[in-house]
Amino acid sequence: MQISIEGLAARHPAAAAGSTPALKPLTLAIQAGEQIAVIGPSGAGKTTLLHALACALKPAAGRLQLDGIDPWSLSVARLQKLRGRLFLAPQTPPLPPRQRVITSVLAARLPQQSLLASLRSLFYPTHIAEAEAALARFDLAGKLWDRVDRLSGGERQRVGLARALVSSARLWLVDEPLSSLDPSRVELAIDALTQSARDCGATLITTLHQVDVATRFPRVIGLRDGELQFDLPSHEVSRERLGALYAQHEHELLGAPPPGEDEPGGKQPAAMYCR
Ligand SMILES: Nc1ncnc2c1ncn2[C@@H]1O[C@H](COP(=O)(O)OP(=O)(O)OP(=O)(O)O)[C@@H](O)[C@H]1O
Ligand SMILES: [Mg+2]
Repeated sequence: MQISIEGLAARHPAAAAGSTPALKPLTLAIQAGEQIAVIGPSGAGKTTLLHALACALKPAAGRLQLDGIDPWSLSVARLQKLRGRLFLAPQTPPLPPRQRVITSVLAARLPQQSLLASLRSLFYPTHIAEAEAALARFDLAGKLWDRVDRLSGGERQRVGLARALVSSARLWLVDEPLSSLDPSRVELAIDALTQSARDCGATLITTLHQVDVATRFPRVIGLRDGELQFDLPSHEVSRERLGALYAQHEHELLGAPPPGEDEPGGKQPAAMYCR
């Protein structure tokens, strides 16, 4: 999916009146199939940008176009349909506790299904092989029938990522995909995510705190205080730029990844489906 934003600003509905917007006017052009990492200190506006692109937050100013269409000019029904082509993976995936992993993964298909098919799939899961292949990419194939509340935090986060693969979304917006992962799982998760997005031809935009991982993406966007600091090919993201981006927040730049609840294991590349 192609993205164009011009002077886009965003403000949270609950923000104090008169406060500065979480995202100040920003202009970006993103081609279909690009893979971009968004970095910056805490509070920079990274999540806000993802929510604005996911049409979960209406711009306070400026214009957003997805594949040449301004989503906010659409009728409610057409906007809802467009949202079915967007996949937002929050930092903590909203997985209902007693649900089985397979049901949680296949829920990502719901926007594309009829109401009847959706209700039926709650009781009699279909597309089992598709869900299993998506989970296998994240080394979770054995967890297909487990209950979500019996998974570790890192496993839940990887289930949240596997959902992208069974959606038919053309834009994957992924917020801090590594935040609950044990360092031994970081490579697996990021490789699975980027390779799967490539295989599916989806545009991938992910926020990251791990600068070393972010600079492996072809393009890196640096945000600070809601403003664009840079938008560069990763080989041009110098130490000096990173130092300026994280000035007074150096502990975030240098800090070790947060402790995870995940357990180590082998990588299992798996056959996958793209919808
Ligand atoms: N629901 C909300 N209501 C009001 N203000 C919010 C809300 N969510 C975020 N903000 C404010 O918007 C600004 C940007 O927040 P955002 O969550 O986008 O930052 P971030 O870069 O994702 O930070 P982090 O790295 O901590 O996740 C912050 O000042 C934050 O306090
Ligand atoms: Mg955030």
